[in-house]
Amino acid sequence: MADKNEWGSNLSFILAMIGSAVGLGNIWRYPYVLYSNGGGAFYIPYIVAIILMGIPFLILEYGVGYDFKSSFPKAIRKIHSNWEFLGWLLPVAVFMIMIYYSAILGWDGIYMILSFTKGWGANPDAFFATTLLQSSESISGLFHFIPLIAVAMLAGWVIIWFISHRDLEEGLGKVSKVLVPALFVIMVVIVGISLTLPGASIGLAELFNPDWSLLGHFEIWMAAFGQIVFSLSLGMSIAFTYASYTGEDADLITNTISIALANSLFENFAALGVFSILGYMSLQSGTAVADLVTQGTGLVFVVYPTVFNVLGQWAYVLGPLFFLTVYLAGLTSILSTIEPLSFSIQNKFGHSRSKTMTILIIFGAVVSMIYATSYGGSVLGYVDTFINQIALLLGIILECIIFAWIFNAEKLIGFLNARSKTIKLGKWWLVIVKFILPIFIAVVWIGGMIDVINNSTSDQLIFTVIVAAILLISTVIFTVLPAKSPDWDDVEERL
Ligand code: PFF
Repeated sequence: MADKNEWGSNLSFILAMIGSAVGLGNIWRYPYVLYSNGGGAFYIPYIVAIILMGIPFLILEYGVGYDFKSSFPKAIRKIHSNWEFLGWLLPVAVFMIMIYYSAILGWDGIYMILSFTKGWGANPDAFFATTLLQSSESISGLFHFIPLIAVAMLAGWVIIWFISHRDLEEGLGKVSKVLVPALFVIMVVIVGISLTLPGASIGLAELFNPDWSLLGHFEIWMAAFGQIVFSLSLGMSIAFTYASYTGEDADLITNTISIALANSLFENFAALGVFSILGYMSLQSGTAVADLVTQGTGLVFVVYPTVFNVLGQWAYVLGPLFFLTVYLAGLTSILSTIEPLSFSIQNKFGHSRSKTMTILIIFGAVVSMIYATSYGGSVLGYVDTFINQIALLLGIILECIIFAWIFNAEKLIGFLNARSKTIKLGKWWLVIVKFILPIFIAVVWIGGMIDVINNSTSDQLIFTVIVAAILLISTVIFTVLPAKSPDWDDVEERL
């Protein structure tokens, strides 16, 4: 019988990791990134980013998690007893992602229901911004509460609680085994239908039409690395935590390769579907595909409803299927965002998994209500930019310094290779995780910082400082609160 924080099988571990990786980033972000960065030519930096960063870094995060078999802050404490603070930063940052992900999940839930009747009406743009979100640019919008969004978000929190408060295998393990394969099957159906639509080839030709000249531009390499960080959930302490839940015989190198492949397969499939449908739309409306492509919430909640409006009967099949896929993809990702903080709290304060999850979920649900206000959409944008462009990239750099340098990743090679049935690690891996990766991410991080500073409004800057302060203060609180678990304090330093 598996322990309450242990996977029942290697399959549960792999599927839960794929569930975390395959999310909104694969459905709305990737197709747009591929299109706007050289089309077919983007595959070169994309594959380089997977081989040079995605796989080597995941192996590092898994390897350390597997070796320590403890929560993230405890492992950092073992590496250096004064550094516990750094160990709480990432789990808290990832929990902050959870809180805003719940809003996007809520919006999607509303669209899933609307899609049965095309309830967004003839003007999806106005419906999304004005009728549903009642968006306001002014901070006073924080006092304007939108009950429908609150209810949709709370429904999501209830589902999350239902799954997460159980023992790991009983909840997350079982759910991943059902939902992740289901996600792939539904995606195949969507793509199958989309490819048969008239005009699909117009969209695909546009998508894959390679612009080789862009290969010489730094931006498309940055875009590829940025996409892989986000899509594979790198540097978020999720891979670390999931690996610490594994039993003795996991072949982590082969698992990593399977997870990276599945993630890429899914996002490339999503791109086929998205662009076939955009091709159809372009044929119907006479608008060029280039003018239809937007990213993010615009694509999911505005362009798609617009497409479904002109799609006739197929819309009643594709619409609900599409919003269901986004919901399931978002759900399997959001479930992973609570694990690092929850496991860290259980580890330090000795609470049960069930109690910790319940408290965190209630807390998260209450705080998330800020996104059920008219100013919520703006806050979401600010928090997302801060966490993705600043906090998480810093997390990867920190992990490289602490794990690859100070702990010394070389120590992991022996046991990782011994269990690997495929690739074996060598010196090349150390060069990547010690030098190439941190240097590259540092460059991207500086670019992100400059972007935030130059392009922010004063409201955004204020919110960025507030969010950063909340992150730091929570981290200090978790660090200074006295431990309740007897074994928390008697850590022998491990170097
Ligand atoms: N990897 C997810 C995606 O591609 O959508 C995004 C994500 C998951 C971000 C989990 C953050 C996270 F903690």
